[in-house]
Amino acid sequence: MTNTRVLSFSDESLAEAARLILAGEPVAVPTETVYGLAADATNAEAVARIYEAKGRPTFNPLIVHVTDIAAAERIGEFNEAAHELARRYCPGPLTLVVTLRPDSGIASIVTAGLSTIGLRVPAHRAMQALLRAVGRPLAAPSANASGLISPTRAEHVLKSLGGRIPLIIDGGATQRGLESTIVATTGNALRLLRPGPIEVAADPAPDGKIEAPGQLASHYAPSKPLRLRATLAEADEYLIGFGEVAGESNLSTSGDLVEAAARLFDLLHAADESAKPRIAVAPVPERGLGAAINDRLRRAAA
Ligand code: TXA
Ligand code: MG
Repeated sequence: MTNTRVLSFSDESLAEAARLILAGEPVAVPTETVYGLAADATNAEAVARIYEAKGRPTFNPLIVHVTDIAAAERIGEFNEAAHELARRYCPGPLTLVVTLRPDSGIASIVTAGLSTIGLRVPAHRAMQALLRAVGRPLAAPSANASGLISPTRAEHVLKSLGGRIPLIIDGGATQRGLESTIVATTGNALRLLRPGPIEVAADPAPDGKIEAPGQLASHYAPSKPLRLRATLAEADEYLIGFGEVAGESNLSTSGDLVEAAARLFDLLHAADESAKPRIAVAPVPERGLGAAINDRLRRAAA
């Protein structure tokens, strides 16, 4: 159990939040939509701790928050449509899904291994101040435990994540109370991935339904067959190890599930790019973040 402090938004509490984030801890902070659970998007283990705190049994791509459009364009490639939306609505409750730049520095666990990224320039002064104090992009899903509703007050965050995170910055009730509108600008037509406070003229989805967050067909999966719970590699297999099962690479030689989650997508990509035609993965225990790791591995094997 972690002692969760709730501090009112001030220069001092902000400095403490920035210090914790640079030390790899997640911190809850208000945005104009809902409270977010923010971590350094360039630090894979810090982002893994977001999943650990939320108890989320799956990896979803997370939204990355930045101070301004220029910072967003250092991470993603903006086409004309993305530029136009950004000029009109940023800062504000809009998330743009764009192509990830290869040199972005964003940890692969943030995008769940995808080659696209959701970017948002928040308008809230607490989140803006935190971004400037940290000087890094911040990954932040809503600050609630998995399966619970999004928090619009610090008390909601405390009820849901108390004992699991070190700090909540209290900035009062959020103004919008609804998560940001998500628009994918990759491809030819704009696609509305999640309706929200901003109404954007975008096609709902190819089949007329709105794609549910986290259920996107675009989830990264390796192109090769994958065998689970392997303890020895066969001749044509690239074995991803865990703990004492060594492998060609290892999720965590010490059996640390935060480290394993942080390395998962990088190692899947490495296995995919290796000369071996098949992938095998060592057993990963189902406790803690192991549930999310195994969920992803089962999908990759299916
Ligand atoms: O208002 C908000 O957007 C809040 C505040 C904290 O900023 N954040 C938020 O994040 O709602 P989260 O993690 O709860 O929602 C992230 C959703 C994913 O489930 C997915 O639907 C979409 O954003 N998303 C993120 N990156 C994506 C990508 N590369 N491709 C498609 N969808 C993506
Ligand atoms: Mg959420």
